[in-house]
Amino acid sequence: MQEEQDHSRSPPYDLVILGASGFTGKYVVQEALRFLNTPSSPLKSFALAGRNLTKLTQTLEWATRPNPPPPIPILTADTTDPPSLHRLCAQTKLILNCVGPFRLYGEPVVAACAETGCDYLDICGEPEFMERMEAKYHEKAVETGSLVISACGFDSVPAELGLMFNSRQWIGPVNRVEAYLSLESDKRVVGNLATYESAVLGVANADQLQDLRRSRPKRARPAIPGPPPPKGPTIEHQKNIGLWAVKLPSADSAVVRRTLATLTENPHGLPGLNESAEQIEKRKAFWSTVKPAHFGVKLSSKSLLGIFRFMTVGIFIGLLGRFDFGRWLLLKFPSVFSLGWFKKKGPSEDEVRSASFKMWFIGHGFSDISLISQGNSKPDMEIVTRVMGPEIGYVTTPIILLQCALIVLNQRANLPKGGVYTPGIVFGPTDLQERLQQNGISFDVISKNAKSA
Ligand SMILES: NC(=O)c1ccc[n+]([C@@H]2O[C@H](COP(=O)([O-])OP(=O)(O)OC[C@H]3O[C@@H](n4cnc5c(N)ncnc54)[C@H](OP(=O)(O)O)[C@@H]3O)[C@@H](O)[C@H]2O)c1
Repeated sequence: MQEEQDHSRSPPYDLVILGASGFTGKYVVQEALRFLNTPSSPLKSFALAGRNLTKLTQTLEWATRPNPPPPIPILTADTTDPPSLHRLCAQTKLILNCVGPFRLYGEPVVAACAETGCDYLDICGEPEFMERMEAKYHEKAVETGSLVISACGFDSVPAELGLMFNSRQWIGPVNRVEAYLSLESDKRVVGNLATYESAVLGVANADQLQDLRRSRPKRARPAIPGPPPPKGPTIEHQKNIGLWAVKLPSADSAVVRRTLATLTENPHGLPGLNESAEQIEKRKAFWSTVKPAHFGVKLSSKSLLGIFRFMTVGIFIGLLGRFDFGRWLLLKFPSVFSLGWFKKKGPSEDEVRSASFKMWFIGHGFSDISLISQGNSKPDMEIVTRVMGPEIGYVTTPIILLQCALIVLNQRANLPKGGVYTPGIVFGPTDLQERLQQNGISFDVISKNAKSA
């Protein structure tokens, strides 16, 4: 089946939240309700979707309590039943997919959207899934006019916009930006179990990801001035932010790398479906200020003990995740193997409220381009910026997903007609950063200094 999206069509719902009954889905519903039919919001109608009507009804009650639930329609759809997904696509402009782990359940949803021309956003943090969807469905999505964008949550929007924010502070060339993620709370917060499951399954899929990358045409690489990134120690103490850090094999670096590849192939960014001349100039002007840099993410903690805890969990997942029996153990006893970090029951609402994140971006670059041509390969300047916000999984992720959705709904003409893309390349030139700032996620310049020799 092949359909081209008619962008003037008016399906009954602006968006549908699929997997609304999940831990994250229910917070996405709560966030969507904040924007439903408010002045100037493009969100005039939405529906919940999933496979269990009772749970979906309870979700709606939870999201609106103590008030009685408004008349939000509930639709049935199961990812194992493609016709139900096609029916869903016919009823909406946009699907927000919260059904994970995505490598298990995501593909039929992307396939249905790419085939029908329906737009699609998700909160995936699994590089193998995202790159496989790009390889399999990009052409089809371009053809039908379906915009498919994964990683529209904490993975990987703060990293994508945070890197751009840092790189745009430079007058001279930037060479590399290291992001240091610090999760903070006055309580001990339980992490998102599905994210732990994704990490476990990700170890099993690591070889497939390498095979996929080897089998597809090589992507363009940006020309980054200065030396390649140094290997650096396994554990690092960053004095200027007072944190210990260890390298994190996160989705963020993989997503950022794809954004930079697309930007290298399209130096003015991606043309919109129906942009005005003014918008074209605005987009080009934005991308002319973004300077590609080497990028990596580290998990940080105020204490060295915290770092050892991260490393121990990483070693358990890395070693046991390779074998069927090991994976079974990891998935059966998450609390044991994550040292209490992830639990089947998930965090309480109090824990969610008490948590927050800071993502520090330390950029290393040159005060002047002439330094590089003089053969001076050591960066002489450092710019520190920070993205900061509330709890990552259930507060920040729904905020980001909803703001991306609102942009798709009211700025569709400025976005690419269709294709499978990263959030950075699509939303970079839009007002996403300002919108996040208005909703509690801040972007700040902390310091600009000469580096000590
Ligand atoms: N990007 C980020 O930073 C970020 C943040 C948070 C979460 N996530 C990701 O979001 C995903 C969901 O997390 P979660 O904690 O909400 O998981 P969850 O609580 O397990 O929820 C999963 C949802 O998927 C639904 N579902 C499962 N199988 C389905 C099927 N065959 N057809 C239709 N619906 C189905 C479930 O419905 P039932 O209620 O019927 O079981 C439930 O609504 C995970 O992959 C997680 O890693 C990412």
